[in-house]
Amino acid sequence: MNLHNAMPSNSAATITLEQWLKAATATLAQSLAWQPVSGDAVSARREASSVLLAAIGKTHAWLLTWPDACLSTDELARADAWLARRAAGEPLAYLRGEQEFWSLSLQVAPGILVPRADTECLVEQALLRIASAGAVRVLDLGTGSGAIALAIAHERRQAQVFAADRSALAVAVAQTNAARLSLALSCRESDWFSAFAGDRFDVIVSNPPYIAEDDPHLAALKFEPIQALAAADFGLADLREIIMQAPKHLSMNGYLLLEHGHDQAAAVRELLQQAGFVDVCSTRDFGGNERVTGGRWTGVSDDDA
Ligand SMILES: C[S@@+](CC[C@H](N)C(=O)[O-])C[C@H]1O[C@@H](n2cnc3c(N)ncnc32)[C@H](O)[C@@H]1O
Repeated sequence: MNLHNAMPSNSAATITLEQWLKAATATLAQSLAWQPVSGDAVSARREASSVLLAAIGKTHAWLLTWPDACLSTDELARADAWLARRAAGEPLAYLRGEQEFWSLSLQVAPGILVPRADTECLVEQALLRIASAGAVRVLDLGTGSGAIALAIAHERRQAQVFAADRSALAVAVAQTNAARLSLALSCRESDWFSAFAGDRFDVIVSNPPYIAEDDPHLAALKFEPIQALAAADFGLADLREIIMQAPKHLSMNGYLLLEHGHDQAAAVRELLQQAGFVDVCSTRDFGGNERVTGGRWTGVSDDDA
């Protein structure tokens, strides 16, 4: 990338925020890795602003007020380095080291899925099923940064919230986020339910990997861990595994709620019904796609006898 062609060549310290933004916007508009649909100057400018403000630790209001302020040498070096990483497609959240979810600031790092706004739909559905008072036991499977579990813990202070992930890094990050937010969370390394033998929960939530392994969209997500994104069997393998195992871990009338792909709702409903769940239904996300499907477990499993 030749960012400084459009900038004064005499000294880094004479580059203003506005000059840097103009060049950075052009760089991002041409970057296929950042944005498959190139040439969208408005979103490229917005993204360039986000990179700049994160790199120099200022607000949008500050940028609007001081567009002619000059970048220091250190600020320029950081802004350029972060722009190059963003132009290559790395999520802004990894550059900042944090991502907002459910208005909680969560630490994220390469190796941990960046929580998505659509996943707030799963949190909403869980909260509808968790009374504000009472020691309800909740489990978040595949917790990643802890996003879902911590949003629930934040809204339902009396709930006992558990979380699990197969990734030791995810468990460590989720625990760090819980401590940073002063929220109670019991987090374990676990292959789905393996670390919860004999345990039952009133609500189990999960946003498991659900993208088909040959889905071309995975290429645009190359900076995020593939094991957090893709699943065998057209993306349904992990959803099926959780649905099959959940009855052994649900209380009577407990709920299982699952996030899935926009075209997987019918398949997930069918899997839940086949497994014996009732009140099976799907909910749409903010984009209008069926995104969360869940059901109620009315019985006890054969293993209870
Ligand atoms: C789509 S990410 C969801 C992360 C987080 N819950 C969120 O919504 O941002 C899926 C998560 O499931 C975890 N995972 C994948 N396979 C797993 C398994 N067999 N057992 C437990 N966790 C698993 C991944 O490490 C990853 O953190």
